[in-house]
Amino acid sequence: MTYATKTFELPVLEGLSEKQIKVHLGLYEGYVKHVNLIMEKIASLKAADAEGNAYLVAELRRRFGFEFDGMHMHEFYFEQFEQGSMPLKAEGSLAKAAEEKYGEQGLIAHVKEVAGSRGIGWVVVYADPDAKTLHTVFVNDHELGQLAGLPIILALDVWEHAFMVDYVPAEKKNYVDAFFANLNWSVVEKRFDATI
Ligand SMILES: [Fe+2]
Repeated sequence: MTYATKTFELPVLEGLSEKQIKVHLGLYEGYVKHVNLIMEKIASLKAADAEGNAYLVAELRRRFGFEFDGMHMHEFYFEQFEQGSMPLKAEGSLAKAAEEKYGEQGLIAHVKEVAGSRGIGWVVVYADPDAKTLHTVFVNDHELGQLAGLPIILALDVWEHAFMVDYVPAEKKNYVDAFFANLNWSVVEKRFDATI
């Protein structure tokens, strides 16, 4: 099987230009391409000489998580802008879970704080259905630090490629503000509600 590039119905975004989004979608397509390429390469190297190519195959397997999570994280990301900005429902189940976990500070302020971490990667909010709580972590690259098995409900790309068409590195905060200005919280709520 091969993975196909998904398309996203994106509205005009506030603070994120069409060019920025186009460049970013192009990078996403690259991840899909490389996921398929790694699977093909592993199969062909094994078929040609499984023993002789064992090191090559092992290194490609190590690389797979980077490409696969690069693909999937961008799908989580772009989906969040579809249908345009929608607020978080104050009385909804996600707002309640967020208040329990992040209290006074609130989920958005907490995500912004984590987004200030140095380095490239993602701020990821997960639901933990067993513990009935949320976790927010900084994932390096696309795959380092992901919480195994927990459903992702929010993904904020903080690689510089996500904003450098529109902002300089020192303006990462402005990009994060733009992300929240365009975020369709109903997508995030739907993901959360599917876990409870
Ligand atoms: Fe990205």
